[in-house]
Amino acid sequence: MVGPARYAPSVSLPAPTADNRAVVTGASSGIGTALAEELARRGYSLILVARREELLNELSKRLTERYGITAEVRAIDLSDREQRAPLSQELASRDIAILCNNAGVSTFGPVAKLDLNFERSIMELNAVAVHDLSLAVLPGMLERRGGGILITGSAAGNMPIPNNATYAATKAFTNSFSESLRGELAGSGVNVTLLAPGPVRTTNPDQEEIGGKIPDFIWVTAAYTAKLSIDALARNKMRVVPGLISKGMSVAGQYSPRAITAPIVGSFYKKLGG
Ligand SMILES: NC(=O)c1ccc[n+]([C@@H]2O[C@H](COP(=O)([O-])OP(=O)(O)OC[C@H]3O[C@@H](n4cnc5c(N)ncnc54)[C@H](OP(=O)(O)O)[C@@H]3O)[C@@H](O)[C@H]2O)c1
Repeated sequence: MVGPARYAPSVSLPAPTADNRAVVTGASSGIGTALAEELARRGYSLILVARREELLNELSKRLTERYGITAEVRAIDLSDREQRAPLSQELASRDIAILCNNAGVSTFGPVAKLDLNFERSIMELNAVAVHDLSLAVLPGMLERRGGGILITGSAAGNMPIPNNATYAATKAFTNSFSESLRGELAGSGVNVTLLAPGPVRTTNPDQEEIGGKIPDFIWVTAAYTAKLSIDALARNKMRVVPGLISKGMSVAGQYSPRAITAPIVGSFYKKLGG
């Protein structure tokens, strides 16, 4: 095989095989693409999920050529229950070694002024789909006594955020669900880790607007985030927060009185809402 050397398989995650798969949702850009590459580098064959099929096909081709793995593409809208159901059924019936529940979107501004249907679709994508896909892979992982579920929550899930209400609430769900599930699965052989990042630099066009309002030193890269996340999942860490500044802000966000932080954070997010 041509290309960079692979990592040795993670000790506490199932080793990659010809049949098993690591699933990455939101693989067509940002953190998801970086997670897919990190897993391919460790020898895992993949199922790549997002809506933009062309980007998934390009990624599949690149990772297949570079790492000699198999990368299947499932181009679906995860916020649509009818499109999601066949994927859940497929994952329940296959040998899934790792599930990275990573797809997620955000809106900014007062929720009453935002598009109701889109806000509903955020609930469906950021929260309900995470729940569905996790529950789809769990029985198989428990039976095999091995597997890893990485859930991408956010530092935004640690506190109330006026002008980012739907996103913050869905990320409160993912943060709590991930850490609760991990507690239930202790000793089962199934690892669960929450990725709760602060700002992670991606090519998402929304970040051009947001980028200028957040100082450079706070940002971390998607590649660094992905490596840290899979290392943490292999060690069954409860939560991973990439970057020292984000770690500090995350602790502050969790333990500061909400009545004080909500208006401060809310006024910052008001600027992001334009
Ligand atoms: N970057 C940050 O600063 C940051 C900080 C904290 C948390 N996060 C979280 O990290 C995760 C990844 O974010 P990112 O920054 O990498 O964003 P991104 O580059 O915008 O990626 C989002 C991914 O989700 C997919 N997606 C969006 N809507 C979808 C839908 N309805 N069905 C299926 N896939 C969908 C997108 O693909 P398609 O458009 O092709 O469907 C894309 O692959 C999200 O959960 C986000 O909340 C990010």
